[in-house]
Amino acid sequence: MQRREFMRNAALAGAGLLIAPSGLFGANAPSNKLNIALIGVGGRGRAHYDSIATENVAALCDVNEERLAIGVKRFPQAKTYSDWRKLLDDHKTLGLDAVVCCTPDHHHAFIANWCLNRNLHCYMEKPLAISVAEARTVRANWLTKKGKLATQVGMQRHALSNFNRVRELILDGAIGELKSASAWGNRQIRRDGYLPAQGEPPKTLNFDLWLGPSPVHAFNPEYVAGGCLKWNMFWDFGAGQIGDMGSHTMDLLWNAVDATLPTSAEAKGDKFNPDVTPVECESHFEHPANSWRGPLKTSWYQGGAMPKSPKEFIDLNKIDHGVLFKGSQGFLVASFDTHVVLPYGKEADMSYYKPRTKDKLLPPLGHFQQQWIDACKNPSLKTACDFEYSGNMIEQLLLGLVAYRAGKKLAYDGATGQVTNCPEANAFLGRKYRDGWALNG
Ligand SMILES: NC(=O)c1ccc[n+]([C@@H]2O[C@H](COP(=O)([O-])OP(=O)(O)OC[C@H]3O[C@@H](n4cnc5c(N)ncnc54)[C@H](O)[C@@H]3O)[C@@H](O)[C@H]2O)c1
Repeated sequence: MQRREFMRNAALAGAGLLIAPSGLFGANAPSNKLNIALIGVGGRGRAHYDSIATENVAALCDVNEERLAIGVKRFPQAKTYSDWRKLLDDHKTLGLDAVVCCTPDHHHAFIANWCLNRNLHCYMEKPLAISVAEARTVRANWLTKKGKLATQVGMQRHALSNFNRVRELILDGAIGELKSASAWGNRQIRRDGYLPAQGEPPKTLNFDLWLGPSPVHAFNPEYVAGGCLKWNMFWDFGAGQIGDMGSHTMDLLWNAVDATLPTSAEAKGDKFNPDVTPVECESHFEHPANSWRGPLKTSWYQGGAMPKSPKEFIDLNKIDHGVLFKGSQGFLVASFDTHVVLPYGKEADMSYYKPRTKDKLLPPLGHFQQQWIDACKNPSLKTACDFEYSGNMIEQLLLGLVAYRAGKKLAYDGATGQVTNCPEANAFLGRKYRDGWALNG
């Protein structure tokens, strides 16, 4: 048995005795390398090549042979697959430890569950899921493996130092007691409906595997032409800007407020289109109090909907993706990489606030992908965006889409994952899958 396999088995058996990997063999010794598979090799997958190149890339999977070939050039030793189910079924033969997944979003919760069920560490590109029910299965599986495996969702902006600075300001009371927080994103990509049939898929593309668990749609080359902005607005393939920039921007908000699942959700936006998720939409949520703040209201605005600016001289539209925090003493406006504090009132002297000293600043996260790789080798290490944090966060945003479809304020029971005041809304919590694709396989 190889050393890493021994270590994982020991952890999974609850032995709780982990030897620091660098202690015996050196961090980069061959015996300490992970056997990694990359699923979804082109597009965003390429952004992961350098991070996984420090490990042993044992397998590559892509439905597009041309994109697979690019990965093979970089990792010639890897075994290749077109169907991720086959790859994951072969995990023992491959000696796999870990999986990085960069496929389109409608595969994410499936692959996350399949990895967890096979005791494989998993780095999943955002969003973790595209339905409330999917987010909940992944989180439930993860909670049985927490501390024994490593997970991370691709919200890499979390490593920007501004995330820590914003959190410190909120925790330390720079705007007094936190009351509400609103995140927004301004992308607007409009589509009328699923694309019309146009020709046959090229021989190098397995479009049926691309569709995967989602209902069959006619082939159109546009779907596969240029990355996630070509397909993520369709209900069967994504969750629109909620799954896209919503994941990144809500992370800036969630990181500062220590939220749990909301108890209510309410949303409005573009007229409902059964094919395409709304462009303009706003959703509003209520969260219970926690140990350091009272009850909290949060909102997500997209596609032109915006929170009201706290001051006429601040144009929030100049920030493409940002968060406005409101407290009892002022506002904090944040983009991904900077922020500004606006105290209220005539005095506005901020004498209520004592900034923390430099030695108390939250430590830098370091390299986001490396944090996960380190945790794969020592699962007692925490990752910033594990499947619990990210699962809760995306469940909230996806619940916003349920409220948008239901057209009324929903009362939500996070313990059972059910809408309690509008039974018909529960039909929107999940989605339909094709035969042969098991969400929790
Ligand atoms: N973290 C970030 O900042 C960031 C940035 C861009 C994209 N993303 C995410 O990365 C993912 C991929 O986005 P993209 O823009 O690269 O999309 P894409 O359409 O270019 O697809 C990526 C790759 O996956 C392959 N693929 C498609 N279906 C597959 C399947 N069933 N099995 C294996 N491979 C499959 C494609 O052929 C392609 O090579 C999305 O989930 C997106 O949200 C994250």
